[in-house]
This record gives sequence, C-alpha cells and structure tokens, in this order.
Amino acid sequence: MYSRITGTGSYLPEKILTNLDLERIVDTSDEWIRTRTGITQRHIAAEDQVASDLALYACQNAMLAAGVTGKDIDLIIVATTTPDMIFPSTACILQNKLGIENCPAFDVQAVCSGFVYALATADMFVSSGKYRNALVVGTEIYSKILDWSDRNTCVLFGDGAGAVVLSRSDRPGILSTHLHASGSYSNILSAPGCISGGKVQGTPYISMEGNAVFKFAVKVLEEVVHEAVAENNLQSTDIDWLIPHQANIRIIQSTAKKLGLPMKKVVVAVDKHGNTSAASIPLALDIAVRDGRIQPDQLILMEGVGGGFTWGAVLLRW
Ligand code: UT7
Repeated sequence: MYSRITGTGSYLPEKILTNLDLERIVDTSDEWIRTRTGITQRHIAAEDQVASDLALYACQNAMLAAGVTGKDIDLIIVATTTPDMIFPSTACILQNKLGIENCPAFDVQAVCSGFVYALATADMFVSSGKYRNALVVGTEIYSKILDWSDRNTCVLFGDGAGAVVLSRSDRPGILSTHLHASGSYSNILSAPGCISGGKVQGTPYISMEGNAVFKFAVKVLEEVVHEAVAENNLQSTDIDWLIPHQANIRIIQSTAKKLGLPMKKVVVAVDKHGNTSAASIPLALDIAVRDGRIQPDQLILMEGVGGGFTWGAVLLRW
C-alpha cells in the first residue's frame, strides 16, 4: 500500500507588495533584492485574514482537484509557523471551517521544512492503511511576524497557502521521505518571543543571520537530495522536476547544479511569492500541476530547509 497526491490547491492573498513598494518602507532597492534573492514581489494577507483562512481556499481547490469532499477526508495536518492563535491548533480551526467532523487534525511546526515534515507524517498514516485521504497543508502569514523596519528580513518573506490531498493507492506515490533536524543551529534563525503572564516576552519578530543560514541551507540540501536519490537506487538526472523550498533563487540554483539538473527542470516561484515558509513547496507544486508541466509517472523531488534547524526531502512518482 502506498500514498499518492491526488489533488493540489493553493491560495495567495490579493495584495501584492513589490520591491519598489519596499523601497518606500526601508533602506533597500529593487536591484539588491532581485540580485541577492530573485524576489520581485510577494503577497500580503489582509489585516483580518488568519492562516486558516488562506488554508481554507487552498484545501477547497485541492479537494476539488482530487474529486473528494469533506466526508472523504479522515486526517488533516497543517504545517505553519504563524498559527491563528496559541490554541486550538490551526488544523482544528481549519477542520471546522471546512465543515469536517471528527477526523484527527493537528499542526506541525518545522518552519520552512514544515510541508515536507507534514507530508512525511501523512505518508506514514496513509501508506500504513490507517487513513484513506489526508489533507496536508502549508499556510503562513509571515507579514505578521516581520519587523517592517528590518531590511535584513522584511524583504524576504510573503504570505500564502498550498495544500494537497494524499490518498491511499496501490501504486506509488511517495517513494521515500527524509527528515532531519539539528537544534544546535536554533540561534541563527528564530522568532525568540514567548508568552508569559499574558504578555509577549522577548521579540516575536524573525531574527536571522542571513549568511550563516544561506551556507547551512546549501550544505544540508545537497546532502538530503543525494540521500533521497541514492536510497531509491536512482540517478539525480532521473528527476523530472525539482520542487524546492522557495527562499532564495541562489540556494535553488546551487541545489540544482549539485544534482546536475538544468533550471528548466526546477519549479521556481520565489520571484512572485517570496519565501512563504511552509507554504512555498505546495504553492510551487500547484502552479506546475495546473500549468501542465507535471505529468503522470514523472519523478518529483521536493526539498526544504528552515529554522530549528530542520531539513528534509520527499521523492515521489506523480
Ligand atoms: O527559508 C529558510 C530561511 N531563510 C533563508 O534561506 C535565507 C538565507 N539567506 C539568504 O537568502 C541571504 O543570506 C540574504 C538574502 C538574506 C542576504 O544575502 P547575502 O548575499 O548573504 O548578503 P549579506 O547578508 O552578506 O549582506 C550583504 C550586505 C550587507 O551590507 P554590508 O555589511 O556588506 O555593508 C547588508 O547590510 O547587504 C546589506 N543588506 C541589504 N541591502 C539592501 C541586507 N539586507 C539588505 C536589503 N537591502 N534588504
């Protein structure tokens, strides 16, 4: 028994913030952002939107594509670093918004690797036969945890959501999943605030040593993509599509180069979305599925890296 993705969906908030808009907010330039990151614009959620609102639209699209309704869904996993509230989990809030009753629903917190972690978790439940159809979602509103006066971070991130339906299948599907974490690097990327006595203690905004994160990301992504390919006795050149976490075009190019893959085999969305953390992989996937790039039987490698540090990959046959 295997699990396979039977439908994808995504949602981006209406408001677009361009690099030129950012030039009016902080001491930056369109040229710096484009050349250092590949980003030209990002979407920003409305003041009253929360992560479950974005997830709702993405899930509705994914369920429509998979030809399933709420009655068919028996597991919901949401990857998010920007939950609606401390509790209940965003997955439970989403379940209610979807009108789904009585299926397990929980959040996964692995920052930008969140979707890879959530998909690997759902695969365990679905391929073991425990559940039939899982909704796996990455949804983020990073605009609410950015210090808009910090040019080191505020130009990098955006809001959005992506979702897949992962269904039981007698043919693969997901071939293998590879998860890693190293808490000893937690200090180079964090939002170190906490709640105490009902008040935020410390800073709730993202703080990042960009260069250290960049170097770490390039190193571990190379390791994990080779691990995924080797475990399946495949060559990296067998990969039809690389769907990477969309943080920086230079990190994406570096991974593609180390795999020996031309950029025409890489799905890139960072230019239009910025870094949407746990949402970035399912957002990119949905675009490439809907524009017809991804075709049946193709080999797809997803990879992500993020705060924690966490990193991982999922290799699958479409
Ligand atoms: O999703 C996983 C988590 N995040 C990432 O993967 C991000 C990883 N890191 C990166 O993408 C890159 O390190 C950055 C895009 C954040 C920065 O690029 P960089 O080439 O590593 O630049 P840098 O940090 O070495 O900074 C170069 C210069 C500095 O000025 P000085 O000290 O050389 O005078 C910064 O102050 O660029 C300056 N700078 C900016 N200038 C204009 C930093 N941010 C900006 C900005 N606009 N927004």
